[in-house]
Amino acid sequence: MKMQQAPGKGFRDGFTTNLGVIAATLGSAVGLGNIWKFPYLTGVNGGAAFIIIYLLCTLLVGLPVMITELIIGRRARADAITSLQKLEPRQPWYLVGVSGVIAAFLILAFYSEVACWVFAYIFKAASGVLASTDPEVTSQAFANMITNPVQSLVWQWIVLVFISVIIIAGVSKGIEAMTKRLVPCLFLLLLLVCARSLTLPGAAEGLGFLFKPDFSKVTWATVLTAMGLSFFKLSVGMGTMITYGSYFRDDQNIPGTAARVMLADVAVSILAGLAIFPAVFAFGFEPGAGPKLLFITIPAVFSSMPLGGVFMVIFFILTAIAATGAMLSLMEVPVAFISGRLGWSRTTATLVTLAGLVLLGSTAALSNSTMADFKLLGMTMFDLLDYSTSNVLLPLGGLFLCLFIGWRWGLENIRRTASNEGSLNNDAVIGAFYAVVKFVTPLLVFVVLLNGLGIIKL
Ligand code: PHE
Repeated sequence: MKMQQAPGKGFRDGFTTNLGVIAATLGSAVGLGNIWKFPYLTGVNGGAAFIIIYLLCTLLVGLPVMITELIIGRRARADAITSLQKLEPRQPWYLVGVSGVIAAFLILAFYSEVACWVFAYIFKAASGVLASTDPEVTSQAFANMITNPVQSLVWQWIVLVFISVIIIAGVSKGIEAMTKRLVPCLFLLLLLVCARSLTLPGAAEGLGFLFKPDFSKVTWATVLTAMGLSFFKLSVGMGTMITYGSYFRDDQNIPGTAARVMLADVAVSILAGLAIFPAVFAFGFEPGAGPKLLFITIPAVFSSMPLGGVFMVIFFILTAIAATGAMLSLMEVPVAFISGRLGWSRTTATLVTLAGLVLLGSTAALSNSTMADFKLLGMTMFDLLDYSTSNVLLPLGGLFLCLFIGWRWGLENIRRTASNEGSLNNDAVIGAFYAVVKFVTPLLVFVVLLNGLGIIKL
């Protein structure tokens, strides 16, 4: 089977192989989150204790929403908005899709800026400008880049054009073909850096930081962080998985695929932790998170080790790969909507999305320079895009998707789609999913939302 036939109307491109589905979906889940969020949060929140809590939160929050989205997408075989309209015509549920398309666009506007720093760092690492063991120096190099408006804009455009070219190539020939190559590379490079980091003298302290279970560090705030993280990590709440689900083959096992992707994603996060923290501790650096870890500490850490320059380049290549799969899935959401609904060609739809991203993305790119003083709700545009999506739109989207599938669509429909019209013997899994997505997930997501909005403080 090469392409999928949409019900009724001509060809609709889709993923062609099981491996392609896993690569694309895992490619979306694996991103900057695995490298700068998960390992650090694990380290400061009780090591193995946090990993256990994260797995529980994912089982109850991230994974059910992911399965929900994949079910909706594959059943309707359409973009995020049209899918909900198809399943419930003349009802406002499609607004969840609208929020999703907007969220995907907003996330890409700032995510592409961080990703472009990673791409730029591949070249900077190779040229030797980052070769310093002094965090003051690497910090200065980072500041020079992000406060330079021309560099910030041009690198972002390069990355956005790169993603657009893959998107224009299509779902099977672009996204699937690319992620099928990139995801194995990512694992390979990650293992290589792990091997380097773990064999450094003094690596054990980093292992302790990552894994030593310490339940005394676990608070309710930790649990909330883990729940929120499971959302962002699995790329749910904004129509990505609805869109990708619409490209799944009819015989794809949806709950099984989602579970595999979730586990592989955790594995990547743990490997990233093994690649980073043993080396950080071996050379006596302070562990940290976010941009500081990635762009300031890591260059200094790599500069401290033998062959560090080479490993630094490898590290940024693998991070760029991770960000690429995530960005492809983000861009596909508006492109699928525009081309599916307005009947525009894929190329036109992508170019229009690209133009919009260049405009909005520039506000994120310039947030550290020209537009640093431009604040809305007390935040720079970069922070506002991040905050409004992670804390508001994603949980809101996830909440309504659960309510839709659990309370409106019902068990019979879920069973038909998730069991591939009865050809899979997974009734128990579906039953458990239904119970969780109907009662548990919405409640937990609601708490995440209230916390994100600052209405409750734990
Ligand atoms: N899952 C990605 C990460 O961990 C981020 C992402 C969020 C990608 C939403 C797509 C959609 O970095």
